[in-house]
Amino acid sequence: MHGKFITIEGTEGVGKTTNIEFIQAWLNSRKLDFVSTREPGGTPLAEQIRELLLTPRKEKVSNSAELLLMFAGRAQHLDHVILPAIQSGRWVLCDRFTDATYAYQGYGRGMDKALIAQLEQLVQADLRPNLTLILDIPVEIGLKRASQRSTPDRFEREQTEFFERVRQGYLSIATESPERCVVIDASQPLEDVQRDIAEALNDFLAREQS
Ligand code: TMP
Repeated sequence: MHGKFITIEGTEGVGKTTNIEFIQAWLNSRKLDFVSTREPGGTPLAEQIRELLLTPRKEKVSNSAELLLMFAGRAQHLDHVILPAIQSGRWVLCDRFTDATYAYQGYGRGMDKALIAQLEQLVQADLRPNLTLILDIPVEIGLKRASQRSTPDRFEREQTEFFERVRQGYLSIATESPERCVVIDASQPLEDVQRDIAEALNDFLAREQS
């Protein structure tokens, strides 16, 4: 089997970190060789771009600069990490990918989705994730959890309404791409969240193997 590309998405405080560890354990239990990575980031240069994007600053970051930086990091990450892994038969587990750009820059910031689609085509050609798990939680709960972790980054300083748009964006993406996306109710107790994630992964693997 060729390497598969799995992405994890969701608004702030949905529990991506804990659940990524769970997915890593699932991949290990199936003896699947994988690379675990994240966006923005994933290579030294792309991690520097991440710093630029997340650092709160006085200077207003223009929407198009933010969008282009996201795709600049992604181009680097694809060339140096994601594509080589998939081409060599390894699986890739990525904490966020282009759905985050549609959700945050598109739905959140109000940028034109056709423009995002053009950049997606330029940077990724026809590469898309094979499976996307969208962890969904009411925004208020997620923001409360996120605020307990660390000082808020540039995105975490946004208003609740911004994250409401991002959340609805993710749900719209899931409706538009039901063959690829699975929405997981992340407001459930952790063991129920992980039962649902395991079910989505097992279904995906069964489909791929049939
Ligand atoms: P993280 O906190 O999940 O690591 O993600 C960093 C932030 O970057 C998060 O607030 C979402 C944001 N982001 C975008 O706005 N667009 C993107 O394309 C990606 C990958 C992340």
